[in-house]
Amino acid sequence: MVVKTQVGIIGAGPAGMLLSHLLDQAGIDSVVLERQSREHVVGRIRAGVLEWGTVEILRSAGLGERLDAEGDVHDLIMIARNGEDVLNVPTVSADGRKMMAYGQTAIQEDLFNAGDARGAQVVFEVSDVVPNDVTSARPWISYTADGMSERLDCDFIAGCDGFHGVSRQAIPAQTRSEYEKVYPFGWLGILSETPPLPSLLYATHQRGFALCSMRTPMLSRYYVQCPLEDSVDDWSDDRFWTELFARLPATVSGTIATGPSVEKSIAPLRSFVSEPMRYGNLFLAGDAAHIVPPTGAKGLNLAASDVFYLARGLVDHFNSGNDDYLETYSETALRRVWSSVRFSWWMTQLLHRFPSRSSFEQRIQDDDLAYLWASANARSTLTEQYVGLRLEE
Ligand code: APR
Ligand code: PHB
Repeated sequence: MVVKTQVGIIGAGPAGMLLSHLLDQAGIDSVVLERQSREHVVGRIRAGVLEWGTVEILRSAGLGERLDAEGDVHDLIMIARNGEDVLNVPTVSADGRKMMAYGQTAIQEDLFNAGDARGAQVVFEVSDVVPNDVTSARPWISYTADGMSERLDCDFIAGCDGFHGVSRQAIPAQTRSEYEKVYPFGWLGILSETPPLPSLLYATHQRGFALCSMRTPMLSRYYVQCPLEDSVDDWSDDRFWTELFARLPATVSGTIATGPSVEKSIAPLRSFVSEPMRYGNLFLAGDAAHIVPPTGAKGLNLAASDVFYLARGLVDHFNSGNDDYLETYSETALRRVWSSVRFSWWMTQLLHRFPSRSSFEQRIQDDDLAYLWASANARSTLTEQYVGLRLEE
């Protein structure tokens, strides 16, 4: 086993593997420790919308070939209201940035394949991972691999181990400020091997939220808002398609090809931020530090922007002896995190049916939607945040 590296990375999801890739491009060594198998990590069904900034990060990292061949660039998304009218919202910002539909599963595969090509040090199926002495100049990670206790000495530790990881807990509770909002519903999602709609369509309806998305020309992703207490066993395919159609205008549902689900799952919705994203020589990136409801399609994009900022700081440290970007990493990353957290909260408030909402709050939501329908300015603020604000220099 490798016993010493420059950056020890916990987690081989999008954040961990992209960080490893960007560091390698600058000649910086890292070791990635992942508790699941490679197949498990790739098998996770996650989001599918990239901000233009994420597309640019992946392209500049040499990860754009399949992305540009299979990714689907979109000039608009649609919002359907109460099964009646449909609004087109441009997804082209004033400076020409767009959004791309490209599955996180594909990104994960691309990152692993690029890792194979560069001889990345990724240790799968580890356990008992613990970041140690993170405030010292010699932090280290203890873990178990193949039943053996191992130690990885490093200059820095990157906690890319998601919401349920161990890295955030290595920051003392009295040092952390945590902010959380749990939403009173979940998303039931299916994959079907059917042709998707030509554009993403978000539907708000008295019966609840729905979303029509895509992965490939023959793989569709659909969601309906469902009660938190539901399980996938409560939802046959027939019940799913019936409920989805009930929340869509007939002009839309009439164009949807249905088919058997090849994946079906329910995810809860929460907003969560843990500050700071640095403690000594431990840096958090991605879901380890923050969670957004999927409504704004920001989770993967925030992981990418965190990693862009963190890699920039680590590269400057090792290759130029300059720590300015490392010193400002947490503040810089959190500015974008909170911008995306607010936007994801706003989109969730705008489009979902909240069981305990007062009549006043319901009328506010109705007016929020009416303003979007009436004002190009309202739509352009949605556009610029949906395609992603520019990364800070
Ligand atoms: N030790 C080692 N690995 C761990 C540990 C641990 N104690 N805990 C978690 N992990 C691994 C998980 O198995 C997972 O592969 O860390 C990885 C974290 O990956 P993600 O949860 O995908 O988080 P991140 O890389 O930040 O990507 C965020 O993925 O979950 C989606 O919606 C999210 O799109 C967003 C993106
Ligand atoms: C998806 O394709 O899974 C998806 C798309 C847009 C969202 C959320 C999820 O806002």
